[in-house]
Amino acid sequence: MTTNEMWGGRFAQGPADIMKEINASIDFDRRLYAQDIAASKAHARMLAHRGIIAQSDADAIGHGLDQIRTEIDHGKFVFSRDLEDIHMNIEARLTDLIGEAAGRLHTARSRNDQVATDFRLWVRDSIDRMSQGLRAFQVNLIAKAAAHAGTVMPGFTHLQSAQPVTLGHHLLAYVEMAARDRARFASARACTNECPLGAAALAGTSFPIDREQTALELGFSGAMRNSLDGVSARDFALEYLSACSIMTTHLSRLAEEIVLWSSPQFRFIRLSDAFSTGSSIMPQKRNPDAAELVRAKCARVTGSLVTLLGVMKALPLSYAKDMQEDKEAVFDAADSCELALAAMTGMVDDMQINEPAMRHAAGDAFSTATDLADWIVRVLKKPFREAHHITGRIVALAEARKCGLLDLPLSEMQTVEPGITADIQSVLGLDASVASRLSFGGTAPTRVREQIGYWQERLK
Ligand code: ARG
Repeated sequence: MTTNEMWGGRFAQGPADIMKEINASIDFDRRLYAQDIAASKAHARMLAHRGIIAQSDADAIGHGLDQIRTEIDHGKFVFSRDLEDIHMNIEARLTDLIGEAAGRLHTARSRNDQVATDFRLWVRDSIDRMSQGLRAFQVNLIAKAAAHAGTVMPGFTHLQSAQPVTLGHHLLAYVEMAARDRARFASARACTNECPLGAAALAGTSFPIDREQTALELGFSGAMRNSLDGVSARDFALEYLSACSIMTTHLSRLAEEIVLWSSPQFRFIRLSDAFSTGSSIMPQKRNPDAAELVRAKCARVTGSLVTLLGVMKALPLSYAKDMQEDKEAVFDAADSCELALAAMTGMVDDMQINEPAMRHAAGDAFSTATDLADWIVRVLKKPFREAHHITGRIVALAEARKCGLLDLPLSEMQTVEPGITADIQSVLGLDASVASRLSFGGTAPTRVREQIGYWQERLK
């Protein structure tokens, strides 16, 4: 067993196979290669600028790194597990390419600040993709909402028909959630976008580096103020995973509604063949597999958050190898989130609305009973509690007669409350009910169209 070519100086023997196996991260941290190369180029330029290495060495390093980037981009790079991670794989290849100058790149830095920098750059890119993905999701929701600002459907509480609402209103609720998700990603981005490079192993460095230069060159807002914090902080990744978890929680709720709505029991929507799968035994089936998978991805993403919270809990400062476990959690969550988001965006566009089925269901279960009670309050000046009681007795009558509120004869209603007049008919219909919900944030088509305008303007 030969010792490690990067750090093996004080070792007589190389690592056991199992040691290599548990230690190596190259199988997953290769995903950091573009960030690792960008950060190394900035670092080398800064070292030369400060006279710490020769400009000619910095140039050779820059060209070598560009070549490595091309090799990896084109699948020509040979990754080695013996070299543990992406940082040492790249540095070893740089040595092959440019010789001794490669050994100067690691001046005034450590893999600890290096990996923290790379990882922050990666998470930052992912946040930007997520925000764009959420925007596309919002755009599709708004388009569907605009087409259905006046489409009546049952609004549910406890998954029981409660009051009629408009589909546009329902979809805009998800636009609001997505907006808060974007705000959470923006907040995570601010926390992520600080540069640890130059913290070195943990204590800073004796070389006269310029941390502001590398930070700004890499697009960070500035250099982190404390080197111990720089190498050991992972709250940016936790904040990111938390934003991911909450986002997929939102997606899972819409996914669940798609599963319910597309079922033969509801028939509110139909997903096209593009978003449906068949059964290998039951020829009649059309399954909403994508929505079901989004529902489940949520658990997986939340699992990643819990994993990293567990890794970081009680971890003494500063760097510990435990933190290498941050990457798979984040990568897996990122992949799951991007897929889930794209699938939901696609399904929102794809779903065909069965307006008659929605309207029919919206009229079930005495869904305009609150309108009746409100009428009694407004016209007969009764306290709401009393109106609620009267309405309850009228609902019981309708239930006994197996008819809806609109079909209950006025004379029957008057046995419960003599003050009720034929005017009551004007509030018991579905369209009248939704149209009357004009309070700010309410389901009235007028309000929904206003909100659509608001979002179209905001997303310009
Ligand atoms: N692969 C390591 C990680 O992801 C890089 C940092 C290694 N640092 C160390 N002191 N062994 O955390």
